Amino acid sequence: MADDAPPAPLPSQSANRRWRLWASAAVAGFTLVAVVIGFFVISSRGEGGVTGALGLDHVHDVQGAPTAAVPGSLPTQVAWTAATLKLIADGDGAAGRTLALQSCAGCHGETGIAVAAAFPNLAGQPRTAIFKQLRDYASGHRASPIMVAVAQGLSEVDMADLAGHFAAETPATTVGAADAPAAIVELALNGDTARGLPPCSSCHSARGGPVGTPPIAGQPAAYLEQQLIAFAAGTRTNDIYGLMRVVAAMLTPAEVTALAAYYGN
Ligand code: HEC
Ligand code: HEC
Repeated sequence: MADDAPPAPLPSQSANRRWRLWASAAVAGFTLVAVVIGFFVISSRGEGGVTGALGLDHVHDVQGAPTAAVPGSLPTQVAWTAATLKLIADGDGAAGRTLALQSCAGCHGETGIAVAAAFPNLAGQPRTAIFKQLRDYASGHRASPIMVAVAQGLSEVDMADLAGHFAAETPATTVGAADAPAAIVELALNGDTARGLPPCSSCHSARGGPVGTPPIAGQPAAYLEQQLIAFAAGTRTNDIYGLMRVVAAMLTPAEVTALAAYYGN
């Protein structure tokens, strides 16, 4: 073939045209893929995408109240950098305990076992999970009239100290309700491959999941149900990569209630 031959002084016109055609097709193809990923895939995952980068997603922000106060639509300001992990690891549990007795015990209990079912337990949660939620409330990435006000009064060092205190306490003891339907236990422990649903326990087990994952066993069932509904409805959007939003949206309302009852108290 003429265009395979070693350096021809002038490529034939048809080879030249063919080269341009392929080059144009490749550019058009890449552009299309970029647009699809930017506008549809990333945007649909609630991460802003091109519309976010262009500042076109304010309407979305206003509707999704939790992120309304925050420019852009990243799920959180917390990144697991070495500096953040060190700040959290350096948290002083003794200082955290003093602060907790003043400002948290009334709802979450002195040791992080909540005084009423309306409040989540903090005892035994990983430091990273507690710190991240406090930071997210403070920045408005997670909504709660009570907790946003509480968290905005804390420094990052306070948050790390409080995380150190509650993480060291003994968690509420429960392992799945004994009377849970077999299909719910199956979903929790093995997921559902047909729907592409990963097992809850792959991330929420006693062995722990990705950094910042809270344990769910032993939380008040009503709290767990409320959080799953919020993820599914997109009123809680502070989960990195939209992981929990994707999972929660795949569950039926009956499964949400039953999973909350299975894990919760
Ligand atoms: C007046 C009651 C009240 C007080 C005081 C309070 N909290 Fe909360 N806390 C709540 C409620 C209610 C929620 C759940 C809010 C929601 O739905 O997001 C919560 C949620 C949390 C969460 C998220 C838990 C999870 O599993 O995601 C953390 C962490 C937390 N609080 C820490 C604290 C700390 C630390 C203090 C003290 C500095 C404190 N709270 C003071 C009521 C309170
Ligand atoms: C791939 C890991 C992963 C899987 C699988 C997973 N989760 Fe989660 N889940 C997380 C992470 C990470 C968070 C914390 C999100 C954040 O940063 O706010 C979370 C948060 C939650 C919360 C809120 C807890 C709290 O204290 O506020 C509930 C409830 C929950 N998950 C239930 C479930 C259930 C039920 C399933 C199974 C149907 C499940 N999760 C599957 C990673 C996972």
